[in-house]
Amino acid sequence: MKVFKMQVFEKDGHIIYNGDALEILSNQIDDNSIDLIFVDPPYNIGKDFNGRKDKWDTDKKYLDWSYYWIDLLIKKLKLTGSLYIMTSTQFMPYYDIYLQDKINILSRIVWYYDSSGVQAKNYYGSMYEPILFCVKDKNNYTFNSGDILVDAKTGSKRKLIDYRKNPPQPYNTEKVPGNVWDFPRVRYRMPEYEKHPTQKPIALLERIIKASTNEGDIVLDPFSGTFTTSYVAKTLQRKSIGIEIDEDYTKIGLRRLSITEKYNGEKLEKEIRTFETKKILEQQTLTLFEPNGTQLYKTNKTNIKK
Ligand SMILES: C[S@@+](CC[C@H](N)C(=O)[O-])C[C@H]1O[C@@H](n2cnc3c(N)ncnc32)[C@H](O)[C@@H]1O
Repeated sequence: MKVFKMQVFEKDGHIIYNGDALEILSNQIDDNSIDLIFVDPPYNIGKDFNGRKDKWDTDKKYLDWSYYWIDLLIKKLKLTGSLYIMTSTQFMPYYDIYLQDKINILSRIVWYYDSSGVQAKNYYGSMYEPILFCVKDKNNYTFNSGDILVDAKTGSKRKLIDYRKNPPQPYNTEKVPGNVWDFPRVRYRMPEYEKHPTQKPIALLERIIKASTNEGDIVLDPFSGTFTTSYVAKTLQRKSIGIEIDEDYTKIGLRRLSITEKYNGEKLEKEIRTFETKKILEQQTLTLFEPNGTQLYKTNKTNIKK
């Protein structure tokens, strides 16, 4: 396991810290300065974050660690700010109870996804991840409901008329999403895929950032992974602060946010996936020439018989 000294990178209102979130939150981020915090911490379920184990010795140690950064995050949030917080289904009840005394929990969201893979066989496999949506002041917070409308199935698909109204009116075709969100997980073949075990979908962060911030607001993600939050913040003209302890994941963020092209002399490029290598090979041609320069043979490399 590699441990690095904290590094900071900044460009056009987007800051990336490579280091320990707890240390950076304590020493680098001003209190009452952040409009939106999205937290997707390690879940204490044994994932492998590039050699860093996502498993604490005891559940109590995981929760004490979590409570420490939860307190810090609440301090960093502006009075009008919002906090979205995730963890595994088994630890969310502890987070929920801990937060109830400190902030207003407005929604308990279920991010549901379908899974074509084999699920648990002897119990009901997990098909969702919980998200708490919290605000500091329930009478003064940003919620751009008009920017996140979804189809109202009854209204938009069946074109029904509500005859209980006088005069009768068509059902609404759009509505504010409820607290069950259906977004596919990031899969290997999706264009947004990065090499990380728990990357969150762009669509999920788009909904959160559009709803809970305005252009120019500051979005913080203390456990950035592939920097989905900062990336989406940038596409939506918000500012961002992303923190990540792992150097390789930090390099993904530097590339995704176009902060640097090179890192320690290494060109930052997206890793080529297996199906892309095959395509590249198929597209490459091989041309053989006679010594006098006449073209003898031209073929796709993959056609060459050994
Ligand atoms: C669940 S993942 C976040 C994934 C992210 N939301 C995304 O879309 O890619 C949690 C991340 O926290 C990082 N991490 C773990 N401990 C950390 C710490 N103390 N400070 C900063 N980052 C940490 C891990 O390396 C991992 O990338």
